[in-house]
Amino acid sequence: MTQTTPTHGHGHGHEYGQDGRVAMADILDLDAEVLAEHTASIVSWLPVGDGPRRIVDLGCGTGVGTFALLARFPEAHVTAVDSSDEHLRRVQDKAREAGVAGRVDTVRADLDAAWPDLGRLDLVWASASLHHMADPDRLLRRVRDTLTPGGLLVVVEPDGFPRFLPDHAPEERPGLEGRCHDVADRGAAERLPHRGADFGPMLVAAGFEIAGERIVTATVEHTRSRSVGRYALTGLGRIRDAVADTLAAEDLAALDRLLDPDGPHGLLRRDDLALRTTRTVWAARA
Ligand SMILES: C[S@@+](CC[C@H](N)C(=O)[O-])C[C@H]1O[C@@H](n2cnc3c(N)ncnc32)[C@H](O)[C@@H]1O
Repeated sequence: MTQTTPTHGHGHGHEYGQDGRVAMADILDLDAEVLAEHTASIVSWLPVGDGPRRIVDLGCGTGVGTFALLARFPEAHVTAVDSSDEHLRRVQDKAREAGVAGRVDTVRADLDAAWPDLGRLDLVWASASLHHMADPDRLLRRVRDTLTPGGLLVVVEPDGFPRFLPDHAPEERPGLEGRCHDVADRGAAERLPHRGADFGPMLVAAGFEIAGERIVTATVEHTRSRSVGRYALTGLGRIRDAVADTLAAEDLAALDRLLDPDGPHGLLRRDDLALRTTRTVWAARA
């Protein structure tokens, strides 16, 4: 079942043209693949007793949380909610391929606008999506009102976009990746003011009790997953688009050398590539 509510242009899916939407979906798929083990470990840590039956994945992206939750809770049905048609299409395709289409439905909704009719819920999962909301506090109160007694809200938030290079790289412009992030983060701060926020106090203010909190740090060497290189190329390519007008010319030239897949200084030729990221997880009861 696919349900649609009107969208008003705040969702991530509205910020880019068709190519941008596909690139974003590709990045989410790469992230899901490279960090699959870490996501599974977060899901297995959740303080839930009897398996939850009615689950919602808010801002589901291409479904990393949806499928991890389906695997952990075999009796559950997951509703995947997002404002992006492209992301939801990928969730539906994957559900069919995995033979679990009967346990997943998708709802297209702008969560900054009207709350979609999702019924009463045992578990709500919001990974890397809360900081996209214009008013996360209002969303948290809506979630609180839809949870069954004892129901759980899980918020997962990354500390930023993953890093791929060591600080001393590249040799001619050490620290380049950090400077690219600094410029990109300054640009994003206005658009995403809640990025990097401490959601613990916000959860308490919205009437939740924190049942668990943990910080998960992940390092995945490129030798463990071929997708690390592809993720680095796609991700840094996207950051390049955001910083090209602001970055120092020497840095931009060095970034372009890294992004040249055939060049002698290309990212894919480096043997020190590794994805590094930190995520904070809050499990909260209404
Ligand atoms: C960084 S992605 C996270 C996706 C996924 N949960 C994950 O952990 O990889 C953020 C997602 O939130 C969605 N999103 C952003 N703003 C939204 C809104 N106002 N309503 C619904 N979805 C939204 C985007 O389309 C995107 O799929």
